[in-house]
Amino acid sequence: MTSRISGFHKLDQKERLRTLSLSERAAQQLSATGVSFGELAEHMVENAIGTMPIPLGVATNVRVDGEDVLVPMATEESSVVAAVCNSARQCYEADGVTTEATDPLMIAQIQILDLQDPFVAKSGVLAKKREIKALCDELDPILVKLGGGLEDVEARVIDSDRGAMLVVHIVVNVLDAMGANAVNTMAEALAPKLAAWTGGRTLLRILSNLADKRLVKATVCFDPQAIGGDEVRERILDAAEFAWVDPYRAATHNKGIMNGISAVALATGNDTRALESGAHAFAARDGQYRALSRWHAGESGSLVGTLELPMAVGIVGGATKAHPIAQANLEIMKIETADRLARVIAAVGLLQNFGALKALATVGIQKGHMALHARNVAIAAGAEGNEIDLVADYLVSEGKVRQDIAETKLNELRA
Ligand code: MEV
Repeated sequence: MTSRISGFHKLDQKERLRTLSLSERAAQQLSATGVSFGELAEHMVENAIGTMPIPLGVATNVRVDGEDVLVPMATEESSVVAAVCNSARQCYEADGVTTEATDPLMIAQIQILDLQDPFVAKSGVLAKKREIKALCDELDPILVKLGGGLEDVEARVIDSDRGAMLVVHIVVNVLDAMGANAVNTMAEALAPKLAAWTGGRTLLRILSNLADKRLVKATVCFDPQAIGGDEVRERILDAAEFAWVDPYRAATHNKGIMNGISAVALATGNDTRALESGAHAFAARDGQYRALSRWHAGESGSLVGTLELPMAVGIVGGATKAHPIAQANLEIMKIETADRLARVIAAVGLLQNFGALKALATVGIQKGHMALHARNVAIAAGAEGNEIDLVADYLVSEGKVRQDIAETKLNELRA
């Protein structure tokens, strides 16, 4: 096996698959995924050999800011979609989730080194805000025409083992875009000017995924009766507090939140890694890595949850626009602005978090999770068609979701 395949990128999909010397079954699977999207995949990545289908489910019962919304979620993890449907049902009568959001402000950084006096350079840059705005806005006249463009310039002097550096932030309203291209273009164009003004050497010019000026806050209130009573609320509060004070638990708690967020982001063609890095960096903003959500007891014994995090998502540009399934998913959600998409995604993250906390603090997650996972195990054991449910039901009834047991049951069925 060699990973050096010269001219691989010049082959078509069929030829690439032949080069990989796969089993007939694997080659067939990959070429089938490539039929509808082969050409698209070819334009989206280098050396495309097909696509990687991920199940797409729709979360029901979700209500955000007084409007119902059906939420497509792309995820390989069983129980993620079901958990959102279930959590959303328990707060639907209480009007679902409400949200607040900042303007869609993205930050790009320009790093400046070798400065004689970084503090003098900093004042010099801040005095040039008007020129900086003119230069940046000129690069994206459509964005400016629609009401976006450069909003602010910030600068920090940071000490490091390689000497002091000046870090300039441009803060740009990117409207309905995720904004990476817009701000990166501006940062690259601005850098030579900054170098000339400060006498320093500019190095990195790139957006920050810690998009902490582009935040969404989702809030939900559960009636105690809807969630199983006061004891369940108290258990959830204890579980949530654990994630606030302990980074080991916080990582898992936040992973659960991102189960929902990344699934909607992926379904809408957004950059899931940008969201993940922004969320985790934001979770550590006070120096300790903490839960992204907070839960407390509200009036009349209710359970109130909030989730605040950066939400750099767009509906124009990038894969969102190019991918027909992303477009179809936006249509399912009736999304017309990036702002609404950001709010719905945050709401889903909060609902996902509630679902996990409630299960963990009561029956544990394995019961529900394994019931759904049993089908994967049945498929992995070779079950097909009707056999899948028969084998999965058997595994659940035995309380043992294991591949060896699935194989034995499958052989029995076939005999
Ligand atoms: C599993 O994908 C997610 C959970 O671990 C989240 C959590 O522990 O809060 C269930």
